[in-house]
Amino acid sequence: MVRRPRADILRPRCLDDLRSPVEEELNRWLGTEDEIEPALAKAMRYSVFSGGKRVRPVLALLACRVVSGHFEAALPAACAVEMIHTYSLIHDDLPCMDDDDMRRGKPTTHRVFGEAVAVLAGDALQALAFEILSDRRSGYTPEQGLRMVNELAWACGSTGMVGGQVLDIGGEVGEPELLDRLHAMKTGALFQASMRLGAIAGGGDAASVKALTEYGKEFGLAFQIADDVLDVVGDPEKTGRYAGSDVQGGRSTYPLLVGMTQSHAMAREAVERGLRALGLFNGRTGDLQELMEYVIRREG
Ligand code: IPE
Ligand code: IPE
Ligand code: MG
Ligand code: MG
Ligand code: MG
Repeated sequence: MVRRPRADILRPRCLDDLRSPVEEELNRWLGTEDEIEPALAKAMRYSVFSGGKRVRPVLALLACRVVSGHFEAALPAACAVEMIHTYSLIHDDLPCMDDDDMRRGKPTTHRVFGEAVAVLAGDALQALAFEILSDRRSGYTPEQGLRMVNELAWACGSTGMVGGQVLDIGGEVGEPELLDRLHAMKTGALFQASMRLGAIAGGGDAASVKALTEYGKEFGLAFQIADDVLDVVGDPEKTGRYAGSDVQGGRSTYPLLVGMTQSHAMAREAVERGLRALGLFNGRTGDLQELMEYVIRREG
C-alpha cells in the first residue's frame, strides 16, 4: 500500500500532481515478492513507499518539462534518483550512522527488517538505479543512458553524497565554508543530478543544463539548511521524526554554527540565487519557483 505524505498545507501543487506518475513508475521497476527474494522485496518496497515527498523525482520531471514541454521522458531517470535517495536514507538511519528509529512517522527500515536486510535493501536500491538508467525500456539513447549513469554515479559516490556523509560523521566542522561544502556534497549533489538527468532526458542544450544545475545546487543548500532547522524546531507530528538527532549525533549544522536567524537568512539567499538561475527560461518556470519557495517554508 502506498502511504501518503503527512498533511502539509504549504505543499505546492506539482508535488501532488506528479506524485502518481512517479509512484506508478517506481512500482513498475521494483521487484515483487514473486520475482526477487521476498524479504528483500518487502524491505525495498517498505522503504520506497513509506510516504516520501518525492521532491527529487518531481524536480527531474520539471527540469525535463522546462526544456521539452513534457515530463514523461524523465520518469525512469526520476525514479533512479529516488532509488538512490531511498537507499541513502536507509543507511543514514542505521545505528552506525544517525541511529534513528523513526522516519516519515514510521519505524525505520532496520527497525522493521533488521540491520542486515536494511543494508542489503539499500545496496539493491542503489544497483537498481543504474539498472533503470541503462535498461532499454527506459527509452534513452545509449549516449543519454551512459551520460546519466556517469552523472548519477558522480553525484552519489565519493565525490558527492557518500563523500558528504563521511564529512558529516567526521565530527565538528568549524567554518561555514566547510559546512557549505559538506551540504553541497551530502544533499546538493543529488538535487543537481535530479535537474541534470531531467534536462538530459528532455534533450536540453548546454545552457539549459547549466542553469538548471545552478538551480539544483542552491535548492540543495536551502533544503539542507531547512532540514537542519527542522531538526531543532520541527514538530515531530509533521516531520515524522524525533527532533534533536543532529545534536545527539554531534553533527555540525547551520543552526549550531551560525544560529537560527542567520540560518534562515542564508537559506533565503540560496533561494534567491536559485530563482535567478531560472531567468533563462522566460516565464515557463512557475512550478520550479513554487518548489524553491516551499523548501524553506516546509514543515516536514
Ligand atoms: C531527507 O530528504 C534527507 C535530506 C537530504 C535532508 P527528504 O526530506 O526529501 O525526504 P523524504 O523522501 O521526503 O522523506
Ligand atoms: C542525510 O542527512 C542526507 C543523506 C545523504 C541521507 P540527514 O541525516 O540530516 O537526513 P535526515 O535528517 O536523517 O533525514
Ligand atoms: Mg545523517
Ligand atoms: Mg539522518
Ligand atoms: Mg537532518
